[in-house]
Amino acid sequence: MKAILLAGGKGTRLRPLTLNTPKPIVPIFNRPFLMYQLDQLRRVPEITEVILSLNYQPRRIEETFGDGEALGIKISYAVEPQPLGTGGAIKFSAQTVQDSVIVLNGDVLQQIDLQAVIARHRERKAKATIVLTPVDNPSAYGLVETDAEGNVRRFLEKPKADEITCNTINAGIYVLEPETLDRIPANENYSIERQYFPSLVANGETFVAYVNDGYWIDIGTPEKYRQVHRDIMDGRYQAAPFLDAPGGVVDLGARLEDDVQIEGPCFLDEGVVVRRGARLGPYAVLGRQCQVDDQAQVRDSVVWANTVVGAESSLDGALVGRNCHVGRNTVLSEGRMLGDRSTVTDFSKL
Ligand code: GDD
Ligand code: MG
Repeated sequence: MKAILLAGGKGTRLRPLTLNTPKPIVPIFNRPFLMYQLDQLRRVPEITEVILSLNYQPRRIEETFGDGEALGIKISYAVEPQPLGTGGAIKFSAQTVQDSVIVLNGDVLQQIDLQAVIARHRERKAKATIVLTPVDNPSAYGLVETDAEGNVRRFLEKPKADEITCNTINAGIYVLEPETLDRIPANENYSIERQYFPSLVANGETFVAYVNDGYWIDIGTPEKYRQVHRDIMDGRYQAAPFLDAPGGVVDLGARLEDDVQIEGPCFLDEGVVVRRGARLGPYAVLGRQCQVDDQAQVRDSVVWANTVVGAESSLDGALVGRNCHVGRNTVLSEGRMLGDRSTVTDFSKL
């Protein structure tokens, strides 16, 4: 079975971080995001190939994953000439697909038994099977109503407040029969959520839901991007590099000067330097070669590689890109974001 990973979105909600780094490869700790999904796909023996469906900055992504040999799973690429939407992208990527295919949104992390989803699809002889997850507020997602037998009765993308009738949403994993893709026009913009799924319901085709109660997050917003780090650090989602150290400090080779205080959980990548009297954590994530100067403080923040945090500065709830220079005595508070190569003048309060 082939898998299609939809990873062509621009990641607009994560700007400015995604200006130089497309969303599929934004780092989660020291690994590009899609690595976490590839880990999951590799565990399913019958998935023999992953097709990465791309259009935004495809070269960067291809350089990161190559042909997959080093990762233990075959990877190929389908690069659209222009964005075709989720349905158009699946059609474009599925040109060599002859059997049931599994499709995954490329910006979601979830604890799931994919083999069980595939088994349900087969048992029910479904035309399409969709994974659902319960959320508090479905308005940012695709609302999915089901009947008592677990068939999808309605699919409504981004419902308005008065259209919310249940709490189950599209979790971003589908198993599809190849012939159902015939309705998607080639090389045209087409939405799997707004067109394909509603058409299955309208035609009364066997469209099955698989409700999953495990961990689920869409990393597409700054808050969620920070949240996924906290969740992995706390062990709510079990993944490298915190598999054996939930709640603890993962230090891949930092140099700590005297009087540094660290409160876990924290992540310090290779070559991080923390100067005298600095305080880290909880939930400080420092990328390769970052430097935190004397008496500075970093908590609940994600800082990408090669950034310097000046003396006596404080980061709390911030996201900071690569190669930034945060001056001394500066405050970056909750929700602040700096793109790569930003400079913040000494004594700034943001
Ligand atoms: N190749 C390609 N081409 N990929 C695309 C395109 C495109 O034109 N447009 C979007 N994608 C990819 C994105 O990169 C992402 O991985 C996935 O398709 C979903 O797109 P998003 O832009 O992240 O959509 P969303 O988060 O608003 O909503 C979707 O995900 C929700 C779950 O997180 C929908 O599928 C909702 O129904 C769902 O609930
Ligand atoms: Mg998304």
